[in-house]
Amino acid sequence: MTRIFSGVTPSGHLTLGNYLGAIQRWVSVDQHRSPHPEDSLFSVVDLHALTTEHEPARVRRLTRQMATLLLAAGLDPKVCTVFVQSHVEEHTRLSYVLECTATDGELRRMIQYREKSAKQQTVRVSLLTYPVLMAADILAYRTDEVPVGVDQAQHVELTRDLASRFNQRYGHTFTVPRAVLPPVAARVMDLQDPVSKMSKSAAVTTGTVSLLDEPAVIRRKVMRAVTDSGSEVEYDRAERPGLANLLEILAACTGGEPAALAAEYDSYGAVKKDVAEAVVELLRPLQERHSALCADPGYLDEVLRDGAERARALARPTVDAAYRAIGLL
Ligand code: TRP
Repeated sequence: MTRIFSGVTPSGHLTLGNYLGAIQRWVSVDQHRSPHPEDSLFSVVDLHALTTEHEPARVRRLTRQMATLLLAAGLDPKVCTVFVQSHVEEHTRLSYVLECTATDGELRRMIQYREKSAKQQTVRVSLLTYPVLMAADILAYRTDEVPVGVDQAQHVELTRDLASRFNQRYGHTFTVPRAVLPPVAARVMDLQDPVSKMSKSAAVTTGTVSLLDEPAVIRRKVMRAVTDSGSEVEYDRAERPGLANLLEILAACTGGEPAALAAEYDSYGAVKKDVAEAVVELLRPLQERHSALCADPGYLDEVLRDGAERARALARPTVDAAYRAIGLL
């Protein structure tokens, strides 16, 4: 049996990049890996949204929106467990114990911490300790596999180190998990800056397609995507990153191959038109289900309540065991 855990931080609107890079796989593959809903856990990790300047009302709104979108995308509460991190106190309970296992030096070496802290005037302590909370998210469930983007690989590596160190010092308590990275082609880049990842926390949003963008907005963003000078349509990730990104998006939406698709076009404009329509069609059913779910808020409340209950029951014995092992009465 393989238990899977992954999380998404409500730090912005979910993008096409989040969908094609991660969520689509959670829906089509990950949630079905095991017949038990307890073995596929997906969490909206709201505590992680508080590590940098935040607006309480926005975090609350985004948390709900993300949970709704995960269901709209096809995560099925009968097949997997969907919950909000802060509803399950075991995460913070375990995080403290893991803070007593991690060192200051290893947290300061985390690339994301170095990049994010360098950009800020005041740095919240939680930005430094956030990978420990992430380790707690994963270890509380004795997770085997963590599907994440490459930017999170270092944090999963830290999680492995903490699990092994704890087990060695205090007796076997945690499963040592492994990261499962998406294929390279699943990395959607920013439409205005095709060498950077399409991110939900981007300041400028003309290069990011949000999952809830209206068709007209999607078309406009795609038609204005930065492409490279040159006129033949060829797939070349290094030399023509803008066009390559569009071809990859088209390939992901239609199930084709970027290089083969390139051969079917003789102008950038025609590529963009087809990409825009493909994205609109890809997101249409998701957006329809999202509206339907929004019309029935009680359903989401129920799903999240059940999810939290199930998650709590799973995490509790492991966190209790860690408390006993480390010397708490
Ligand atoms: N840090 C992850 C991100 O920014 C989100 C996350 C938090 C996560 N806890 C997790 C992902 C546990 C996987 C497992 O994308």
